[in-house]
Amino acid sequence: MNILIAGGNGFIGSHTYISLRERFPEAQLVIVDNLVNSTHKTLESLRKMTGENILFYEIDLCDEQALAALFRGYQFDGVIHFAGYKAVGESVVNPLKYYTNNLNSTLHLVKYCLEYDVNKFVFSSSATVYGDGVSPLMESDALLPASNPYGQTKAMCEQILIDTARANPEFSVALLRYFNPVGAHESGLIGEAANGMPNNLMPYIAKVAKGELPILNIFGGDYPTEDGTGIRDYIHVMDLAEGHAAALERLSSGVCIYNLGSSKGTSVLQLVKAFEEVNGVKVPYQIVERRPGDLAIIYADASKAEKELNWKAKRTIKEMCQDAWRFEKHDVLI
Ligand code: UFG
Repeated sequence: MNILIAGGNGFIGSHTYISLRERFPEAQLVIVDNLVNSTHKTLESLRKMTGENILFYEIDLCDEQALAALFRGYQFDGVIHFAGYKAVGESVVNPLKYYTNNLNSTLHLVKYCLEYDVNKFVFSSSATVYGDGVSPLMESDALLPASNPYGQTKAMCEQILIDTARANPEFSVALLRYFNPVGAHESGLIGEAANGMPNNLMPYIAKVAKGELPILNIFGGDYPTEDGTGIRDYIHVMDLAEGHAAALERLSSGVCIYNLGSSKGTSVLQLVKAFEEVNGVKVPYQIVERRPGDLAIIYADASKAEKELNWKAKRTIKEMCQDAWRFEKHDVLI
């Protein structure tokens, strides 16, 4: 089996590489990535972890000619598409950047899949497509307008893939709606190595614990939750990665949609406390104004993935905090 991992050098893509290798030892795995939000260091780590040469092509999916050449060179059996811009705030400031990149990259990949008879497509979607829907969120819930252009691109790409599968019955699609991926591979060799300032909670906590950032701003202490801070469904990135391998294996026909979450809610303060306790560190914080666009409570009903994919998030909040911290500390040594 030949699998193309688009955006395979990023946070979730690199962990999925490891899960795919475990589940499909004989498969040929090919990574394409434009390195816009990742570095060669991750490739080096993947090489160390697997003991194999990584088949890597530095290609921007918006570059159609380069992509066409890649599809000519390999007969892929499936594509997993992670490539895309993902900073919610930036997408509000620069929506065209998000629409241009995230839509074109998906359109190009789908076009070449159809042209070269690649019939399995797994797409990185997001819980953001549920808008301000009421948790626990289920795949059958209506999609509500996303509160930002990033989220809008996820909903639009889902629709592109649904329409394509409808028109091409041999083309099968899994839409995987992620909740809040955190943590790192337990080796500490790969993790969330974003360029620049972290946007999300866990990497921010880790930077504050390390002393690289002075204080964590907790956005809002007056939500209708037990401790007043926002509740999210955190999922260990290795659980998420295993969800992709399971989806690819089971994909047979049509469009399947799965929530990939833990089905449990954790508040910001609970996560901060868990991180401090498990790792024996201090995370100074202050409660500030709510962040515009944030919802009080988001968590999944992930029972469909359990039933149909035989997949369930297994790793605990404690493991998420330990692994995120191990990666953060390791990152300073190499
Ligand atoms: N938070 C803080 N301080 C920070 C960062 C975050 O208090 O410095 C809080 C947020 O207010 C929220 C929680 O921590 O309550 C989680 O925030 P993240 O930014 O880590 O994640 P979001 O839930 O906002 O967004 C994530 C992904 C998006 C995706 C969305 C889907 O980052 O890509 O989940 O629900 F669209």
